[in-house]
Amino acid sequence: MKDIFERIKATPGPLGQYGGKAEGYFMFPKLEGPMGPHMRFNGKDVLVWSLNNYMGLADMPEVRQADAKGAADFGMAAPMGARMMSGDTVYHRQLEQDLADFVGKEAGYLVNFGYQAMISIIDCLVSRRDVIVYDSESHACIMDGLRMVLAQRFVYRHNDMESLRLQLQNAQKLAEKQGGGILVITEGVFGMAGDLGKLDEIVALKKEFSFRLLIDDAHGFGTMGKTGAGTGEHFGCQDGIDVYFATFAKAMAGIGGFVASKKYIIENLRFNMRSQIFAKSLPMPMVIGAMKRLELIKTRQDIRAHMWNVVNTLQSGLKERGFDLGNTNSPVTPVYLKGNVNVATNLVVDLRENYNIFCSITVYPVVPKDVIMLRIIPTAAHSLEDVQRTLDAFSEIKVKYDAGAYDKEIPNMNLINKAE
Ligand SMILES: Cc1ncc(COP(=O)(O)O)c(C=O)c1O
Repeated sequence: MKDIFERIKATPGPLGQYGGKAEGYFMFPKLEGPMGPHMRFNGKDVLVWSLNNYMGLADMPEVRQADAKGAADFGMAAPMGARMMSGDTVYHRQLEQDLADFVGKEAGYLVNFGYQAMISIIDCLVSRRDVIVYDSESHACIMDGLRMVLAQRFVYRHNDMESLRLQLQNAQKLAEKQGGGILVITEGVFGMAGDLGKLDEIVALKKEFSFRLLIDDAHGFGTMGKTGAGTGEHFGCQDGIDVYFATFAKAMAGIGGFVASKKYIIENLRFNMRSQIFAKSLPMPMVIGAMKRLELIKTRQDIRAHMWNVVNTLQSGLKERGFDLGNTNSPVTPVYLKGNVNVATNLVVDLRENYNIFCSITVYPVVPKDVIMLRIIPTAAHSLEDVQRTLDAFSEIKVKYDAGAYDKEIPNMNLINKAE
């Protein structure tokens, strides 16, 4: 017999293996100061491109005031208990209806965390007779939801409509045999690569196949579409999305999220979603704060226009400088480079230490072997001066990268990490 703790000590996991070297600098870095493009890291001022604060709401005075008033009026404890038992309020109900109206659905339901909610939504929507068809690059919350349910599933190649069609044919045969239905799941905006789920083409497949469509629009809500109502609005196919889901963790710069659909579906979710039935209600300051955020997302089209100006200026500037941004069509700005962990580490250290620019980097297994990806998130809180400063830095970075300057042993992080 083995001791469980001994095994855990010996197997830190795919991310944990970098823990010692990367702690406090690459992983669990501590950004200090008000949430926005200009923060403190490791004792110096940095220009931050890592926050999903798309609409720049996180540090807007009216948002902070709404949060503070929510906390002063109700406290963080209220309401106590799960929604069904003792945690319901008229504010929760009002926010749900406002969100549903905004995304063009009959009804909505608030959730505490997007990740947990998605798992629970999938659990509610399918029975063991149903069949799920999903995109291969779906977010972990979808993948983990799939692992929870007994429904069988088929995966289609990322955004490949021929592959989807094939899997729908397979799913149709199985669903007919089992007497079940089909649920297709994908994302509006893929959060790592920034490309869009082909929602219009997926919805068009409803003419050939009978299925329901669940969309995780975490990165599309507030950013995509003419009014910010999401990726379905962008493609003009919001009505074809049967169940719409988004978190408050991105453009809403908060915590929580919501799911919206037909009234009878939401009624069903209210009584069956285990992540909500067995959890405390979303605290009042979050609800009051979310109301203010939603109001700003709905009314301040100028903020969204500025965000897109920042996004487009940054993305076209990077492309002009020879950087590969993949297939992004959203604010998410991945910069793909060939290289290993050494290159990734040296490049990010150079950016942070010599240019005071903070952005995140991903390596294998998030991206293929020998590829590294800088992930830049332009927001409405950035200025065009911030963009220019970054483009100037990236011009210099490119010269060094092309000359192989980053292809050397990883520096001793303990020397760099003055914060520790
Ligand atoms: C696509 C996607 N879905 C769901 C989530 C989870 O949302 P939350 O942070 O509210 O748990 C995230 C990340 O936050 C995400 O990027």
